[in-house]
Amino acid sequence: MFDSGVGGISTLRTLAKVLPNEDFVFYGDSANAPYGEKSSAEVRRLATNVMAQLKLHQVKAVVIACNTATSAAKRDLMAANPEMTILGIEPALKQAVDAGKQHILVMATPLTIGLPKYNAQVARFQERTHIESLPCPGLADHIEKGYAGIAQTQTLVDQLMAPVLDDPIDAIVLGCTHYPFITDMIRRKYDHPVTIYTGYEGLANNLATHLKQQGLLRPENTHRQIEFYSSRDTPDELALYQHLYEHGIAK
Ligand code: DGL
Repeated sequence: MFDSGVGGISTLRTLAKVLPNEDFVFYGDSANAPYGEKSSAEVRRLATNVMAQLKLHQVKAVVIACNTATSAAKRDLMAANPEMTILGIEPALKQAVDAGKQHILVMATPLTIGLPKYNAQVARFQERTHIESLPCPGLADHIEKGYAGIAQTQTLVDQLMAPVLDDPIDAIVLGCTHYPFITDMIRRKYDHPVTIYTGYEGLANNLATHLKQQGLLRPENTHRQIEFYSSRDTPDELALYQHLYEHGIAK
């Protein structure tokens, strides 16, 4: 699995639960984060480099645990690696629409929201429901830095969400894998209940189906390993990855 940085660890937490016998190699491109405010050509270049790193570990499938890299690079990565199962995370709009949600807020990086893949997704559903797309510049970067101080992150969330607070939102799609680490901060902005969607369960089940179809699932009760790698290869960074994996929240 890979992400621009720590965000994909929120995805890994679900995948590792649904697939308890599988080994996982997680690569965070923290030295190049955030991806969401780069050009799509640059994200494709970075994702191609990360893919080469993952292939050194002889992985049997690759999960792009980054909405931005999925939107910008998945098609190219699949074309360049036809032998490899490559899955990606995308904003879980379908899940929210299928659940009958009427006023859905999608929070994602500026690049994800600007790309044709996301806009095609919105076009598919907007007759059935009201969709608000909220680009969140800077937010992934705060989380990447281990929150950059809770108070500053709260201030940024307050500023970013100010334009949508009076809307009758009944669901929030977290369209960036960094954001689930601040789910409570986001949810608390509304006085009424809102359902949060990440799409992680669907992605995990999809991966399980692919592996099963190819006869690649490991036997039950296999001892498994989860390894972390980062382009910012320092003991502190790897300790942050491990901590986020174990606790789901920064120190
Ligand atoms: N976590 C990533 C995503 O899901 C990207 C965040 C970033 O690097 O901007 O979109």
